[in-house]
Amino acid sequence: MKFAKSNNSMRPARQAFPLVLLAALVAGGMLTGCDGRRETREVLNMPDMHFQQSFKPQEPNPWAENGTMMTPPEGTVPIGFQPYTIGDLEADELASKLQNPLEPTEDVLRVGRKYYGVFCIGCHGETGNGMGNVVTVNAGMPIPPSLYSEKLRSEWTDGRIFHVITRGQGNMPPYDRIDPDKRWAIIHYVRSLQRAATPTEEDLQMVEGFKTENPELFRNQDGKE
Ligand code: HEC
Repeated sequence: MKFAKSNNSMRPARQAFPLVLLAALVAGGMLTGCDGRRETREVLNMPDMHFQQSFKPQEPNPWAENGTMMTPPEGTVPIGFQPYTIGDLEADELASKLQNPLEPTEDVLRVGRKYYGVFCIGCHGETGNGMGNVVTVNAGMPIPPSLYSEKLRSEWTDGRIFHVITRGQGNMPPYDRIDPDKRWAIIHYVRSLQRAATPTEEDLQMVEGFKTENPELFRNQDGKE
């Protein structure tokens, strides 16, 4: 009753009209929203895991054993990460099992000699002793180990040498740009350098015999031996 007697209700209609209009506009705006779309409410028939207790960063997690992050299950890898589990030692072991697909025929040895001359001779030298031009001329370049060491001759398989050519080792850069067949041919040539450096009595006799049979190959231009 008190309100009915208030000033507002007594106001003449002429003055009240703009207020009514304003109220209508505001209410209309609230109903439609600013961008004119209607509000939609999500209906959840089966909420399942929709509502979960989530934690703020750094907040203790009572479910985790250590109160912080849960440990990922064993074998979990981050998205996009490609695990590479073969270590260097295993790689050497695995590579050692690779077989040289080529036979050391004369043609193969010629190819090997050619590409040894292109890619290896600069550091490893003509005979494989490690005194290539890069080493002797350019002081500071470390002397590579001999290619006819006991280790390389009796322990290292062709596959192991193939691995070093392909991946490099220490100061030696990788030479995977050499065609694999040429790498294998180079290895046969390296084997022949090893044999030349440590010839058996038979090898020496064979060379002597070859010399007698082909004297022209061992003569200088002036005809001397
Ligand atoms: C830029 C110089 C350089 C070139 C070119 C090069 N090497 Fe080497 N090589 C080295 C050095 C230095 C080492 C020793 C690396 C180390 O273990 O630190 C080495 C090591 C090796 C070994 C291992 C020897 C051992 O006892 O561990 C082999 C086998 C080998 N090289 C073969 C080759 C062959 C075959 C080529 C040609 C395809 C070649 N290298 C080209 C510098 C070179």
